[in-house]
Amino acid sequence: MRDNAAAPTFIGLDIGTSAVRCVVGTRDASDPTLISVIGHGSSPNQGMRKGVVMHIDDAAEAIVQAITEAERISGVQIHQATVNVNGAHVAGINSRGVIAISGVDHEITIDDRERVEEAATIVKLPPNREIVQVFAKNYRLDGQDNLKDPVGMRGVRLEVDCHIVTAASPNVRNLNLSLEKAQVRPRHHTVSALAAAEAVLDRKQKEAGTCVLDIGAGTTNLSVIEDGEIQHVAVIPMGGTHITNDLAIGLKTDLDVAEAVKVKHARLGDDGDKPVRVVVDEHAHNFSGGEVNMIVEARVEELLEFVDKELQRIHRARKLPGGVVIVGGTAALPGLAEFARDRLQLPARIGKVRGLAGLADTVDTPSFAAAAGLMLLDILLTPYHNDYAVTHDLAGGNLPAMLGHILGKLKP
Ligand SMILES: Nc1ncnc2c1ncn2[C@@H]1O[C@H](COP(=O)(O)OP(=O)(O)OP(=O)(O)O)[C@@H](O)[C@H]1O
Ligand SMILES: [Mg+2]
Repeated sequence: MRDNAAAPTFIGLDIGTSAVRCVVGTRDASDPTLISVIGHGSSPNQGMRKGVVMHIDDAAEAIVQAITEAERISGVQIHQATVNVNGAHVAGINSRGVIAISGVDHEITIDDRERVEEAATIVKLPPNREIVQVFAKNYRLDGQDNLKDPVGMRGVRLEVDCHIVTAASPNVRNLNLSLEKAQVRPRHHTVSALAAAEAVLDRKQKEAGTCVLDIGAGTTNLSVIEDGEIQHVAVIPMGGTHITNDLAIGLKTDLDVAEAVKVKHARLGDDGDKPVRVVVDEHAHNFSGGEVNMIVEARVEELLEFVDKELQRIHRARKLPGGVVIVGGTAALPGLAEFARDRLQLPARIGKVRGLAGLADTVDTPSFAAAAGLMLLDILLTPYHNDYAVTHDLAGGNLPAMLGHILGKLKP
C-alpha cells in the first residue's frame, strides 16, 4: 500500500440510502494544478432509510465494502474521509455575528475573524440538534458591506453573515457509530448537495445563482449557490425509491419488477403508450407504457413542487440564472432535465463532474457526483490541503471563496 504521508490523498465517502460510494483523489503527477481520481468503490447499503442510519452494522458493512474496493484500486489505506450527513433533519439557517475590535490600532487579526465567526454560531438550537458546518459568507466593518476577508483592515465594529448547517444529534451519532465500526474517522461532515455543487458547477454558475439537486434513492438534497456563497441547504425526504414504490402499487407488481420497469422504460414528458415488457427471474411482465409514465410523472412532479417551495422560501423560485443542475442516481431518468425546466420554469440540465483527471471517467456519472465532490471538499476543509487549493486555483479557484472559513470541523 502507498505511504499516505508521501503524497496527500483526499477521500470522499458518500453514505447513501441505496449505496455507499468512495472516491480517492491525489495531485496529478504531470500537472500539479489537477486532481486525479486514483480509486473508487461502491457497495449497496441496506442500513439506511431516507438518508438516516437505521441499522448501524449494515451501514458499517456497506462502508467497509466500498472502502475496501477503493483501497484495492488506489493502493491507499483509508482511515479517514469527508462524509455526508443526510436526511430531512438536516437544515440550513442564516446567522449573524457581531464583535467590537478593541486593539490599540483597531486592526483586524485572524483571531478577531475567528471570534466574530464564533459569535455567529451562538444560535439557539432546539435540544438534540447540533451544528454540522458553518460557512462565513460576508463580513461588514463599520457598515462597509460585502467584505470577503476583513483581516488587516481597521475598524471598530465587525460583523459576519454565516450559513449554518444543523442536524439532529441522534442521527449524526448513529452515522458516526457506523463509521467507527467501519474504522473510518470522519475528517469533516457536510451535505451531499454542497459536495455535488463543488463537483459539477463552474465559477459562473456559482456567481449567477444555481440550484443543485442530488436526487438519490430516499432523499433529494438541495443547495443554492449564489454570489459564490452558500445561500440555502435543504433535504427533501423523497427520491427514486418513492417512484419505484408508486409503480409497485400502481401496476400491482413486485418491487423488483417495478424497479426494472423504472430503470429500463420510464420516461418523463412522453405521451406515447408503447407496451412495456420486462423479464425478472425468467418471468415476463407486461404493462402499459402510458400508465408507467403517468405514475412516474406524478411523483416527480410532486418532488419538484417541494423543490419549488424551497426556492420560494428564499425568494429564488424562477429567479436563478444558473438554473437547476441535477445529479444523483435518479438523474438517469430520461427527460428529467426537460421536465424540471418546464415545472420549475428555470434552465435545467444533468450535472457532469468537471475538471478531474485519472480515473475520472469512472466517477463521471451523476450518481458519483456527491462522492467526487466530497473528495474535493476533503481538500478544501482541511487547512493544509486548503492552502494547496488556494495556491493551485483548484477546480476553477472558486472553492475557498465559496466555503469561507470553516468553523464546523466538528465531531471527531
Ligand atoms: N436509469 C435509471 N432511471 C431511473 N432511476 C434510476 C436509474 N438508475 C438508478 N436509478 C435510481 O437512483 C436511485 C439511487 O440513486 P443514488 O445512488 O444517488 O441514491 P443514494 O445516494 O444511495 O440515496 P440518497 O442520496 O437518497 O441517500 C435509486 O432509486 C434508483 O432506482
Ligand atoms: Mg445520495
